[in-house]
Amino acid sequence: MVILVVGGAGYIGSHMVKQLSKAGKQVVVLDNLSTGFRELACYGQLVVGDLADTVLLERLFREHQFDAVMHFAACSLVGESVGDPAKYYRNNVSNTLNLLDVMVRHHVRHFIFSSTAATFGEPEYTPIDEAHPQAPINPYGASKLMVERALQDYATAYGLNSVSLRYFNACGADPEGVLGECHDPETHLIPLILQAASGRRKSITVFGRDYPTEDGTCIRDYIHIEDLCSAHALALQALVDGELSGALGFNLGNGQGYSVQEVIDVVKDIVAEDSCELAVEEGERRAGDPARLVADATQAKKALGWQPQYADLITIVRHAWAWEKKLARIQ
Ligand code: UFG
Repeated sequence: MVILVVGGAGYIGSHMVKQLSKAGKQVVVLDNLSTGFRELACYGQLVVGDLADTVLLERLFREHQFDAVMHFAACSLVGESVGDPAKYYRNNVSNTLNLLDVMVRHHVRHFIFSSTAATFGEPEYTPIDEAHPQAPINPYGASKLMVERALQDYATAYGLNSVSLRYFNACGADPEGVLGECHDPETHLIPLILQAASGRRKSITVFGRDYPTEDGTCIRDYIHIEDLCSAHALALQALVDGELSGALGFNLGNGQGYSVQEVIDVVKDIVAEDSCELAVEEGERRAGDPARLVADATQAKKALGWQPQYADLITIVRHAWAWEKKLARIQ
């Protein structure tokens, strides 16, 4: 099977490419390296290019007989999307349509799409299942939802079958230590705490302690990158085998929430084993943060046969810490 992984040099895409390659699939990576890294695309054939380049896309699809496409290339910073929505609609919507259109022209009918919990907006209830209304409150979430909607129509009109996977909080790192998270700027909680512990950052700031949760800090559903990728692999197989068709969407999380304070406590214990400490500062609430975001992933388990292997937060943090130590050159 030949698979095009767009955004395969990024955090999630690179882990996906590794899993696919290890499973014997042939992988071509298309990445513009705007947030990805050449070094992370070490398991596939890397083509450096952009989805805006329709000539390149046409050539790529003529050169390769792709069986399926996985799409991870997107802008994904909620705050940035509010300040610069044009960037989000252009890259996340318009460029994705370029990709879908070249797939239709070349009769490539299997598509896995990175979507997000941000398509749900402010939760009306938790855990959030697929029946929860999708009412995004920022351009990032809106841009992802637009593609989900387009995929429904592409399925009906062109027979393009897809699975959109809505991630809650992706985290952790390759258990073998080859790959991990490197965003610049980093905005995600776990890598930021670990950078504070490794000395690459002065401290971690807790964004608000006055939320209506047990300890006052926000609760999130942290899902290990390997588990996220295994759900993609299962979804792809189900499409290829014809077990799933149309345009489907599944929520991916562990169904268990941890507060910011709980994450900090887990990290403190783990980094103490390396004699590292952590400075914690108090900050204001960050705009747009819901108090509690937890997934109900029952449907993904049922339809895909998915079972997370690394649901435990301690394991997630251990893998992420091993990667951070590598970056910070801690022995
Ligand atoms: N947080 C801090 N301090 C920090 C960074 C984060 O306290 O320095 C808190 C946030 O306020 C939030 C929690 O840690 O309560 C997690 O924040 P992240 O930025 O790691 O992740 P988010 O939950 O904001 O983002 C995730 C996905 C997005 C998606 C969003 C949906 O990463 O892609 O959920 O709301 F859009």
